[in-house]
Amino acid sequence: MTGQGPATVRVPLSDGGYDVLVGRGLLAGLGGLVRSTGVDAERVHVFEDTGVPQALRDAVVGSFEMARVTRSEFRLDETTKSIATLERMLVDLAEAGLARSDLVIALGGGILGDVAGLAAGLHRRGIRVVQCPTSLLAMVDASVGGKTGVNLRAGIDGSPVLLKNAVGMFHQPSLVVADVEALASLDPRELRCGMAECIKHAVISGETGQGLLSLSNLIDAMPRLLNGDATLLASLVEQSTCLKAGVVAGDERETATGSTPGRRALNLGHTFAHAIEGCEGTRVEVDDASHHPKHGEAVGLGLIAAGRLAEVLGVGSASLREGIENSVQAARLPATLSASPDLASLIAVMRQDKKASGGRLRLVVPTSSGVEMTDDPGDEALSRAWQCVI
Ligand code: GLY
Repeated sequence: MTGQGPATVRVPLSDGGYDVLVGRGLLAGLGGLVRSTGVDAERVHVFEDTGVPQALRDAVVGSFEMARVTRSEFRLDETTKSIATLERMLVDLAEAGLARSDLVIALGGGILGDVAGLAAGLHRRGIRVVQCPTSLLAMVDASVGGKTGVNLRAGIDGSPVLLKNAVGMFHQPSLVVADVEALASLDPRELRCGMAECIKHAVISGETGQGLLSLSNLIDAMPRLLNGDATLLASLVEQSTCLKAGVVAGDERETATGSTPGRRALNLGHTFAHAIEGCEGTRVEVDDASHHPKHGEAVGLGLIAAGRLAEVLGVGSASLREGIENSVQAARLPATLSASPDLASLIAVMRQDKKASGGRLRLVVPTSSGVEMTDDPGDEALSRAWQCVI
């Protein structure tokens, strides 16, 4: 970042793209910032995550001096990232009377941003949204790239499973405002969860990763990052967002096929992670208690399993897998599950993941130069990968 102003990362897309502004103290002046970037509207509806301090939410709403502002509050988790919540948001937008030229503000974590983005994409066949991520995970991943969605519950082989992001659409934001000061009030567990996506970006960068996108630099910086060093966190968000913007620009709608990963690179570790999140019996030890894993915790475990899979398949080295494991541990994320269903169930849920087509899994695996795609590696290799985290 230069000077006191926010750093700007451009996401260059076919329709022109949009900016991600990264800085400190941006949210309190959001209305002015939105106006100065030309994303103005007569009416604004703010979807607020009640995890964000009330004073900051009030400041955001108050900053839209020239617009008529309505607001509604949500506290969401993976089970309420649902069609029912989407319907509530759509009713809010209809009752607020937002026209096609009006604006939605998504102020909160990744789950709120995903559902609010979907509601904006559906209201009157699509209105603009400004994503204002307040968690690290949302800043470096969920808010950038236009993926929106909700989960579905379904029975797979007789067991209830949460199918992650089974319903959604691409709806790119008009602007993303990442204010790292919002991270000061974030639950430390959530901050650690966001680190999993940063580790993923460092792995995708491969051996040539610079700055905080090199695994060894990230490990060194981790104590200061977890301690809330705002300058370092802003650099991490900027560098991570830059990596993601480049990947998204190269394959906006994840249409790459064959051996070219394209945007699928960003799914590194996620097919394992979605199985971990989807099975009710999975547990991790966090802060001396047993919990069902949060998304970032599942991604950390998924990255380790993907590293092990690459090693088993002979495309990634043991030292790369160890580097991933060390980063996950440096971020104080769980490196193993404390309880899980049997391997066959985990693999069955993995095969239900939306990235499996025609029953065949295609997985992203890490290599020294970044990532590559692998066709269904078979149950034996998958079992060996899973054994690394269970
Ligand atoms: N979170 C993965 C992607 O945006 O493609």
